[in-house]
Amino acid sequence: MPRFLVLVSKPLPLDGRDPAWATLRRIAEIRIRPASTRRTLGREPRLPRADAVVTLVADRVDEEFLERAARVKVISNFAVGFNNINVTAASRRGVLVCNTPDVLTNATAELTIGLLLAAARRFKEGAELIRAARFRGLEPDLLLGAELSGARIGVIGAGRIGSAVARKAEALGMEVIAITRSRGCLEDLLRASDFVSLHCPLTAETRGLMGARQFALMKPGAVLVNTSRGELIDERALVASLRNGRLSAAALDVFCGEPRLRAELRQNPRVFVLPHLGSATHPARAGMARLALRAITDVLTGRPPSNRVI
Ligand code: GLV
Repeated sequence: MPRFLVLVSKPLPLDGRDPAWATLRRIAEIRIRPASTRRTLGREPRLPRADAVVTLVADRVDEEFLERAARVKVISNFAVGFNNINVTAASRRGVLVCNTPDVLTNATAELTIGLLLAAARRFKEGAELIRAARFRGLEPDLLLGAELSGARIGVIGAGRIGSAVARKAEALGMEVIAITRSRGCLEDLLRASDFVSLHCPLTAETRGLMGARQFALMKPGAVLVNTSRGELIDERALVASLRNGRLSAAALDVFCGEPRLRAELRQNPRVFVLPHLGSATHPARAGMARLALRAITDVLTGRPPSNRVI
């Protein structure tokens, strides 16, 4: 067997004794960059010698990257989304791109339910009151919020994660409207929903999907939740819609230009933001690591990987 070189962007949360590591180690040397590295993966000196890479959503794989990664046969993205990768350019060069679907569906759907509750029940304002030692005891009208049960949720993008959110929302007594790219009407969903949750991949078509025109259609006092990609939302329009009261709150796990969050969102007491934690559970992240490593083992040993995106 040839000895391949596999470059891993950052340490993965998978036990070093897991068989996925051992299997890959039999055919390849695995180089894992330290968590503290500040160098972009595209500038990594070992990249030109690598046969495969594990990338993160923060790693941009563009023409320049692919040019340097001349030996790479497979890019295994540690994520279900792959908008960070120019898949057309990769495919033109015969490079396979793989992702990590399914294993993170439940974790992300659970986090979405958490965000619905965080927005509806004003977690940020409550936590801030405690942090500032300003809580003076139970008050009958302190931080009243909305209930999920009986409310209507509009799920935009009813794929694996959107459908899992819909099932959990139904179990909580919510009425669900779900649309996909080819089924259902966005305008109708926006007019009818108390909560709107985004679950589309980021593509040229979905970038800026939620802008001033869409916010204006939403029910006054509606809540927006996003666990997909920040760029689906025009954040200036979001800030304006929160200011003029069209939206009562937003809960975001993702935002434009991560990791820097615009100040108007960071400072708004009705905007609850998490640092891209959708799949951040022990089982989901271990499952993602296993899938990412297995895809590389498959490709380097001449087998078709199960989770290929192109
Ligand atoms: C995370 O954002 C993912 O796409 O898995």
